[in-house]
Amino acid sequence: MALHFSMFLPTLLGQASPEQQEKWVPRAVNMEIIGTYAQTELGHGTFLRGLETTATYDPNTEEFVLNSPTLTAYKWWPGGLAHTANHCVVVAQLHSKGVNHGVHPFIVQIRDEDTHMPLPGVKVGEIGPKLSFSTANNGFLGFDNFRVPRDSMLMKNAQVLKDGTYVKSRLSKLTYGTMVFIRVMIVTDMAYYLSVGATIAIRYSAVRHQSKPKENEPEPQILDYVTQQHKLFIALASSHAFRVTGQWLWTTFVRVNKALTSGNADTLPELHAVACCLKAVTTRDAASMVEACRMSCGGHGYMTSSYLPILYGITTAACTYEGENTVLLLQTARSLVKAWQKGSKGKPLSPTEAYLMDKSPVPKWENTLDGIIAGFRRVSAGKVQDCVSKIDKLVKMGTSYEDAWNQTSVRLVAASEAHSRAVILATFRAEVSRAAAALSPPLARVLHQLVHLYTVYWALERVGDLLLYTSIAERDVQELQQQYEDLLQKIRPNTVGLVDAFDLRDEILNSTLGAYDGRVYERLMEEALKSPLNAEPVNQSFHKYLKPFMQGKL
Ligand SMILES: Cc1cc2nc3c(=O)[nH]c(=O)nc-3n(C[C@H](O)[C@H](O)[C@H](O)COP(=O)(O)OP(=O)(O)OC[C@H]3O[C@@H](n4cnc5c(N)ncnc54)[C@H](O)[C@@H]3O)c2cc1C
Ligand SMILES: *[C@@H]1O[C@H](CO)[C@@H](O)[C@H](O)[C@H]1NC(C)=O
Ligand SMILES: *[C@@H]1O[C@H](CO)[C@@H](O)[C@H](O)[C@H]1NC(C)=O
Ligand SMILES: *[C@@H]1O[C@H](CO)[C@@H](O)[C@H](O)[C@H]1NC(C)=O
Repeated sequence: MALHFSMFLPTLLGQASPEQQEKWVPRAVNMEIIGTYAQTELGHGTFLRGLETTATYDPNTEEFVLNSPTLTAYKWWPGGLAHTANHCVVVAQLHSKGVNHGVHPFIVQIRDEDTHMPLPGVKVGEIGPKLSFSTANNGFLGFDNFRVPRDSMLMKNAQVLKDGTYVKSRLSKLTYGTMVFIRVMIVTDMAYYLSVGATIAIRYSAVRHQSKPKENEPEPQILDYVTQQHKLFIALASSHAFRVTGQWLWTTFVRVNKALTSGNADTLPELHAVACCLKAVTTRDAASMVEACRMSCGGHGYMTSSYLPILYGITTAACTYEGENTVLLLQTARSLVKAWQKGSKGKPLSPTEAYLMDKSPVPKWENTLDGIIAGFRRVSAGKVQDCVSKIDKLVKMGTSYEDAWNQTSVRLVAASEAHSRAVILATFRAEVSRAAAALSPPLARVLHQLVHLYTVYWALERVGDLLLYTSIAERDVQELQQQYEDLLQKIRPNTVGLVDAFDLRDEILNSTLGAYDGRVYERLMEEALKSPLNAEPVNQSFHKYLKPFMQGKL
């Protein structure tokens, strides 16, 4: 049902006309129909204009004819499409009066509402096993001259009149609304997945004892190895950082949307730019930190019953869906380069990008939160400037802008990531400071420790960049390293409490390693014994294959 609520319904709300909403939204809300969002095809995902599914208007019958002219035109990936959905939003190339007007969304019934059989002209099925999401029912979908009424086209923005006349959208950018909405949600999803990974790995690390560093003392909890803390506490802190950033992004989204409904799209490009890079960076961090959680549980972390392998599969998928991460980082980079050019001409910049134009001399380095955040902004601004100079130089030498862009793209992606890090660091700090006023002093202290840990962690991870673009010196780095290690020690006594505070029920964690009661070994054995492979002590395969093989009779 995920796609029904996360994409199908939001698309209807964002792109259907008021009359269409009246017809479809109540049916979707009451679950009289189940929908999904079918955009990606075998041949194209990222490049929307490359989609091949066609919707050709026939004014004689006032219908659109949906068609998949090639194998690569088949829709491929939509969640719930294979056997669950009976309707979907189909994104197709709109043709009317012999003109192609580009891709537009259509609401299409694909299965009979009573028998659930695919309608004639609809070819639908399941795409097969994936890294994870086994239950997501991702499907393929093709059309063989399948006719749908004219009002199947979602007409809040662009329209096709009865005679086939195409009426352009007033605000062409409006169609991006749903995509932006989902990216905003994904940042919060990543906070959630990290809370799951951190809960499982930290609880297990409190239960697990291993090695004897001191011969006369018992084996310590693995959570007391500082290397283990280094792997895990950042996942815990990142969960909070992403939740706070996600909330901030949501507030921004609501504000931009309000402006949009009154016809003002000025703030949409900034939201789009910041949502793209935050989606990319939070999904990549979440995937790599969940994987670190898995590895931190040793062999048992590799058991499916620990849930960590499944969680990794789920998290890493977010690096790809709703905009492939590199492609998204390049989109933000386009905005940063534009902002730089605009700023250089003395024009004002949007709030999240204004720091790019800070022309003050590089200040003396300070090992404080504000010092590090200011340092990250310097890194980002420095990288953007470096990209702009490289592009300018290439263009002056006669290279086309597209080629110059391609040749600068490794740096552009890095600049975009740096911008995203600056935004997350500043948001996490500002929002926690703001919230702290209403919290008990001990709770505020612990949250500040997490902000501190998160900030210093990234300063140390990006020390090369800081050395390039700020006045940080060797002794500052050494001091930061010490701060970081002190923080691990300060946070340690609260770690189990902090993951308990995520309040994730055992049924949700579904993990042999992460349950609240810590019965790790019992659960591992219980799950193992459930395997059908343990049903009989000797399988027929022994008599059929192994025994003859051992006796040399095969
Ligand atoms: C679990 C899952 C669920 C999904 N659910 C849905 C769904 O419900 N509905 C739906 O419609 N789709 C869905 N998708 C599809 C998904 O949206 C696409 O796979 C995604 O947008 C990436 O597009 P692609 O597969 O064409 O990748 P490609 O664009 O082919 O990417 C391949 C490589 O090419 C690079 N690349 C591509 N273009 C550029 C460029 N311009 N510059 C630099 N590098 C480039 C990418 O960075 C990447 O490294 C889902 C995918 C997954 C994995
Ligand atoms: C990108 O640039 C590289 C290096 O100049 C070149 O080899 C490649 O063909 C270019 N790719 C595209 C898509 O323009
Ligand atoms: C996970 O959920 C399944 C299905 O409910 C259940 O059979 C299994 O025992 C659960 N595993 C753990 C470790 O909780
Ligand atoms: C025994 O082997 C058969 C044939 O390979 C297989 O189908 C069956 O599931 C096995 N049973 C168990 C309990 O392992």
